[in-house]
Amino acid sequence: MGAVSLVSLTRTLAGLALGALALSGCGSSLDESGGSGSGGARSEKVRIGLLVPLSGVYAPIGEDMKAGFELYLDQHDGKLGGREVDLVTADEGEGPQTGVPAAQKLVDQNQVTAVAGVVNSATALGLRDFFHESKKPLLIANAGADDITGARKSAYVWRTSFSNGDVSAALGPAVAKEVKGGVYLVAADYAAGKEMVAGFRKTFEAAGGKVAGEKYTPFGKTQDFQPYLSAIRESGADAVFAFYAGAEAVNFVKQYKQFGLAGKTPLYGTGFLTEGGALAAQGAAAVGVKTSLHYSTELDTPVNKEFVAAYEKAAKKPPTVYAVQGYDTAAVLDKALAGAGGDGGDALVEALGKVGSVDSPRGPWKFDADHNAEQTYYLREVETSGGTAVNAVVGELE
Ligand code: BEZ
Repeated sequence: MGAVSLVSLTRTLAGLALGALALSGCGSSLDESGGSGSGGARSEKVRIGLLVPLSGVYAPIGEDMKAGFELYLDQHDGKLGGREVDLVTADEGEGPQTGVPAAQKLVDQNQVTAVAGVVNSATALGLRDFFHESKKPLLIANAGADDITGARKSAYVWRTSFSNGDVSAALGPAVAKEVKGGVYLVAADYAAGKEMVAGFRKTFEAAGGKVAGEKYTPFGKTQDFQPYLSAIRESGADAVFAFYAGAEAVNFVKQYKQFGLAGKTPLYGTGFLTEGGALAAQGAAAVGVKTSLHYSTELDTPVNKEFVAAYEKAAKKPPTVYAVQGYDTAAVLDKALAGAGGDGGDALVEALGKVGSVDSPRGPWKFDADHNAEQTYYLREVETSGGTAVNAVVGELE
């Protein structure tokens, strides 16, 4: 069955389920707007959909994002915009095949007022038209696909995280300055990997850097990186830029060390390479890896210190950029729901446009004109502190 007919079948089934709910007298107590695009009366509770990977290589990222969102709720009596939240969590899985139907169910069947989450760029790209046409707000709390806040931007789609091109472009000039020879580019073979490499290459080459080779590894399927590490060694590259996240980041960095490249060929990447649970699993293998990201647990600000302590108490582990993005998404929804003149999509997106600066653990940030996060990117280097590997903040990137 083609993608379009699968989408319409899913929507038809969801519509039938909705009709059955309405006939039985249920399903109208939470959201009187009935999922319409504009206006929409308010009710006491507000139902929010949280779409995160609970399975697949990005499951640890989904877990962190959920924990960040829930921490904000816990700190605010379970309320957003002064209203009790009914949070419906759905599994994004490993890509659009699972993520798109799960989001459609949240909107059509669960009748959520907005959906937050989405880790994978391919899922975000697959969801864009559905949310645009449904006039339902989607707050992307990770997926960095450039077009989402670029060529395919929508009034109904907002991003509290980053765009792939921005986070990698931030690192290019710094690497061009530090590395005298060629740099090998390696990444997971899907939208995010391609865009991370393209963003890095653009500013790296503009700053005089030379590319020694480029390779994409099958996403979600590569566990043995040896053939790619051999290609890197044979290229004679003086350094490597990599994009991997979650379970793939763990394997890549550990095998980079086992293969004998660590210490000889400096490894750079976007911060997802050495973040959170991935860094804990990599341990000493990650020491010396330098990355660009808009967050580190080591940021020395009162807002971050308070956040790290609260998160560690609740989750029993240090926070990650994914947790911060989840936390900030809840904060943005809190402000927008408080300011919106109704639960309809148009009322909520108008309020999202008035959220202003967010005082976040990452530092202050705000939405730009394309609904993307405008923020500071940091240069980080993995060091050991008290026997634990951490992403020390080396400086701010231009
Ligand atoms: C992405 O698919 O956009 C993505 C996934 C994990 C980390 C960073 C970006």
